[in-house]
Amino acid sequence: MGCQYFHPVEGGADSFTVAMPRYTFGRGCLGEAGDRARALGMKRIALFTDPVLVDGPYLARVRNSLRARNLDVALFCDIRIEPDDDTVTRAAGFLAAGNFDGVVSVGGGSVMDTAKASMVHALYPANFTDYFGPPVGPAKPVPGPLLPHLACPTTSGTGSECTSVSVIRLNAWNTKFVMGSPHLLPDEALVDPAVCDSLPGGVVASTGFDLLCHAIECYTAKAYTKWQRINDVSARTMLQGANPWSDMAARRALEIVGRYLIRGVADSSDREARDALMFGASLAGMAFGNSGTHLPHAMSYGITHLMRDIMTEGYEIPAPFVPHGISVVVSAPAIFRYLASAAPARHLEAARYLGVGDVDVGADDAGEVVAGRIVELMRGTGVPNGISGVGFAVADTRRLAQSAIRQTRAINNAPRVADMDDIQRLYEAAVSYW
Ligand SMILES: [Fe+2]
Repeated sequence: MGCQYFHPVEGGADSFTVAMPRYTFGRGCLGEAGDRARALGMKRIALFTDPVLVDGPYLARVRNSLRARNLDVALFCDIRIEPDDDTVTRAAGFLAAGNFDGVVSVGGGSVMDTAKASMVHALYPANFTDYFGPPVGPAKPVPGPLLPHLACPTTSGTGSECTSVSVIRLNAWNTKFVMGSPHLLPDEALVDPAVCDSLPGGVVASTGFDLLCHAIECYTAKAYTKWQRINDVSARTMLQGANPWSDMAARRALEIVGRYLIRGVADSSDREARDALMFGASLAGMAFGNSGTHLPHAMSYGITHLMRDIMTEGYEIPAPFVPHGISVVVSAPAIFRYLASAAPARHLEAARYLGVGDVDVGADDAGEVVAGRIVELMRGTGVPNGISGVGFAVADTRRLAQSAIRQTRAINNAPRVADMDDIQRLYEAAVSYW
């Protein structure tokens, strides 16, 4: 069923590449950090974390494991949520001065993405925007390998431990952009679901919707065969469109989030649900790290660019702040109503994996079925009701669209073309769902 999506296209790509770190999953596996780091050849380690985690038990477990193997560890924890170019520049300075031979990151996407980007700038200094694509930079390729990187996620959403991208807020542009290179992929991931036991329900909800959107966006992304064929294989980006590998991981991630998200948000003692969401987040990372996301992520950057007077419970960061997963999902139902006509069978399959069951509907209803299931999960987890729930009104939609339209690679990865007017209409349709 899925392979019909990848029919050959004249001039289109005829190959896809899969990149994956070595991957370990299980309760207690953070205690393996010392052995893993040694096996990667590390002796002097830069240990990245954030100010909230720095005095907590998970960082201590990793640090103790590293020290038990007689590894030299220096800590860097000056990392803000949603890291910006200042954060990365400071971290790169720390790395450049420290004579390190490896990096261990313990944290959410902000920590892992800072580790990736700062290694690039420490090892291959350049103008900050050089490694970003248009419109902000020339998409200069990262010249070579980074330090060995052992990534230990502490939230169940980002999937950054399995991706070759880093999302950084550029202060001059006042919004986030994506840096991507095969060299950014961590060498190894240690995914210990025990780290999610103490997460507030609101954090599990926002990261869970990030997971959901990663999975459904890569499942419905433009087929890789529709991207232009490239002659220089080293230039093949991992954001290459939907492909059979990303399909495989995305399907299972959709099943997991559809089944466990409401349970995992409602009950912090529901280990079955929270462990499954942690694994689902990695699966979705394996999927989108090899395919790319599309419109919901592109439009989320408009929201985090223009948000004001809004903050979110459960996050220790001053206003304005909308968690990444919330900024993505608030537009998603409207977007999938719009996109489904381009690939109705795919959208119906995605809805079924998300748990709608065997509904007997035609292709014309595919968008409504997907949107309805996402809205059901939003209501069931108490997240904001569309973009009005994060402080926006119809009057803001033009400016939101003007911001989002700059995310060209993601917009072009959607199964259907959307221009500025389309994106404005999608924000208008996303004002509220209930
Ligand atoms: Fe995301």
